[in-house]
Amino acid sequence: MKIDGTPFRTIWQDADGVVQVIDQRWLPHDFRVVPLRTRAEFATAIRDMWVRGAPLIGATAAWGVAVQMAQDPSDPSLAETWEILHDTRPTAINLRWALDEMRRVLSPLPPALRAEAAAKRAAEICDEDVEINRQIGLHGLEIIKAIAARKSGPVNILTHCNAGWLATVDWGTATSPIYHADAAGIPVHVFVDETRPRNQGAQLTAWELNSHGIPHDLIVDNAGGHLMQHGEVDMVIVGTDRTTARGDVCNKIGTYLKALAARANGVPFYVALPSPTIDWRVHDGVREIPIEERNGAEVTLVQGRTKDGRIESVQISPDGTTARNPAFDVTPAELVTGLLTERGLCPATEAGMAAMFSDLKAAVAG
Ligand code: MRU
Repeated sequence: MKIDGTPFRTIWQDADGVVQVIDQRWLPHDFRVVPLRTRAEFATAIRDMWVRGAPLIGATAAWGVAVQMAQDPSDPSLAETWEILHDTRPTAINLRWALDEMRRVLSPLPPALRAEAAAKRAAEICDEDVEINRQIGLHGLEIIKAIAARKSGPVNILTHCNAGWLATVDWGTATSPIYHADAAGIPVHVFVDETRPRNQGAQLTAWELNSHGIPHDLIVDNAGGHLMQHGEVDMVIVGTDRTTARGDVCNKIGTYLKALAARANGVPFYVALPSPTIDWRVHDGVREIPIEERNGAEVTLVQGRTKDGRIESVQISPDGTTARNPAFDVTPAELVTGLLTERGLCPATEAGMAAMFSDLKAAVAG
């Protein structure tokens, strides 16, 4: 993605070898880049959501391991780093995937060789993410093209949360088909769910689409069903934090309600799914996926920019109001029209996933 004409990824190693990330807490009002120099800083950046989105959480954890290996490449340091980074957020499986991948590469090596190998693998994981998302976009483009051929005017796409460029290393997952369609000259228009409580849609997706010049409207989370009833939504595309072996999709809280509304109104509901987001060890998403419960203050406070340019939080509920804040929900596979993967459109079924990813499934079982 380009910001004011300059190409950016969300995480990179600068010329001095320091890992830099975009601190997303201040977007859309302030574009801040911060260095991450220690394992503790990586853990804080993931836990406190300076970086967020399943693929980017995984990429950040991989770089966290690499930075720690440069400081202490011993066996206990590797084991402890896996635990510390894994404890940061419970739901996105890319975190575990990336940490397992780093451990798989590093464990057999003598400590003296680990720093270099870790930096190499972390960089590869980032490059692989970019290519996976590009492929997801190309497959999604075909679906958008088919819808465009059946109607006049723009293809109206509803998305939830931010499964965009900022949630990955580049391209995004759910937004990649949108960017590809735009590049192919297909008119698209996006309905952006604001995505309470943290407003990733209002703050991040709207900023991305705006930077890219994609027509869009921000809507409150509760508007999607109404728009679908009135034929204003041609398709829904969302991301995922963990998808089970049978195709149950865990994603940002509120995704399930959009899937129900889509089913009730005959609107296709697609999930952009990079293969590192599949958890082959779990089947029943509702019962088996741990759902992160975040601080209730995210519900009772809302952050925004004041007229004189300060970024501030304001309280929207009475003093003393308590709040529940489950951060994700699970959409059962039967509500999913298809999984948009880097290998193509996959049915959200045990058999469909096993057929498309037989190699990956076998690697986990073995
Ligand atoms: O809590 P967040 O902002 O990390 O949640 C992000 C999402 O739910 C995204 O939809 C998901 O990670 C997919 S990102 C390509």
